[in-house]
Amino acid sequence: MKVPLLDLKAQYKTIRDDILRVTAEIYDEQHFILGPRVERLEGEIARYCQARHAVGVSSGTDALLISLMSADIGPDDEVITTPYTFFATVGSIVRVGAKPVFVDIDENTFNIAPEGIAERITARTRGVIPVHLFGQCCDMDAIVRACEGHELVVIEDAAQAIGAEYKGRRAGSMGDMGCFSFFPSKNLGAFGDGGMVTTSSDLFHEKLQVLRVHGSRPKYYHRLLGGNFRLDALQAAIVSEKFLHLDAWTMARQANARRYRDLFAQAGLDEIIRLPMEKENRHIYNQFVIVVPRERDRLRDYLQQAGIGTEVYYPVPMHLQPCFQFLNGREGDFPRAEEAADKTLALPIYPELSEDQQTYVVEKIKAFYM
Ligand SMILES: Cc1ncc(COP(=O)(O)O)c(C=O)c1O
Repeated sequence: MKVPLLDLKAQYKTIRDDILRVTAEIYDEQHFILGPRVERLEGEIARYCQARHAVGVSSGTDALLISLMSADIGPDDEVITTPYTFFATVGSIVRVGAKPVFVDIDENTFNIAPEGIAERITARTRGVIPVHLFGQCCDMDAIVRACEGHELVVIEDAAQAIGAEYKGRRAGSMGDMGCFSFFPSKNLGAFGDGGMVTTSSDLFHEKLQVLRVHGSRPKYYHRLLGGNFRLDALQAAIVSEKFLHLDAWTMARQANARRYRDLFAQAGLDEIIRLPMEKENRHIYNQFVIVVPRERDRLRDYLQQAGIGTEVYYPVPMHLQPCFQFLNGREGDFPRAEEAADKTLALPIYPELSEDQQTYVVEKIKAFYM
């Protein structure tokens, strides 16, 4: 049996006719960049994420970059974030010239541990980027409390968390801005790169729109130094079509997560393997990440041999990345992030995954350990 980590072809089969129809419409329209298709998606995503506005951009990475730019964060500023995230979170902070300041994670959720934030706030701190990792929101009340009285900009990195909720509030509605990615492996993926920034601030909304088009308004009059952060109409239209299925796909991921829990318990593996902890409500399971006690890499090879795709998100925490060595990060600085990097493994969780495939995955893990 083959169980890929993600099977986009299986999903495409279910929506092929609609995608071909809408892309054909765009070829006829010959309007490729921004425009009504992008505006429609912006409205859909803003409503879905409980934000007043949304601004379509070229990727999740650019969503982070333009959010930092719109908050005028730059040289001499510090931004607090997690060392256990995808590179783009920290790369964007460094690209605007600011300094990332890391706070270790909560070992149960892998999200930034709010209790570590207050002591890292200095006179230079301008913002915090909590990352809702793997599809589960950070403890946002505690994060906002830690920021109180410091006038910090909170930018949620919700790239993996569209539709995730914290106390009934959606990812992207709790900070000043929320950054989303339509990278194909996300719960709502484009057919290429794309992203979105949500905000309920009229000021940030206006600034994001201007920065997205080289800072120009009106055209060719550049008030700000922006860039080309535009979203294509083709990607927006495809994402709008896929958006109609998002909740059904998310529910299928959640059902798969429940089934893994049953299967791991039946196999007697729940004592050995730590399954993801659902701490906040509405985990959308962009990834189902387990903690294995020993021989993670050997297990991964073994599963690969058995036709099962897995991934390590992420093998090297940000403070140990070669390109961030100027920050003087050392092994041991963030032990919980380092432990997660050594012991976590993402299993297939995509909506089209069958019961037989999940049973096979758990059987193989059992065969490895027992
Ligand atoms: C947590 C996180 N932040 C940022 C990004 C960047 O998104 P993109 O790949 O669309 O640039 C991703 C996705 O890859 C991500 O997982």
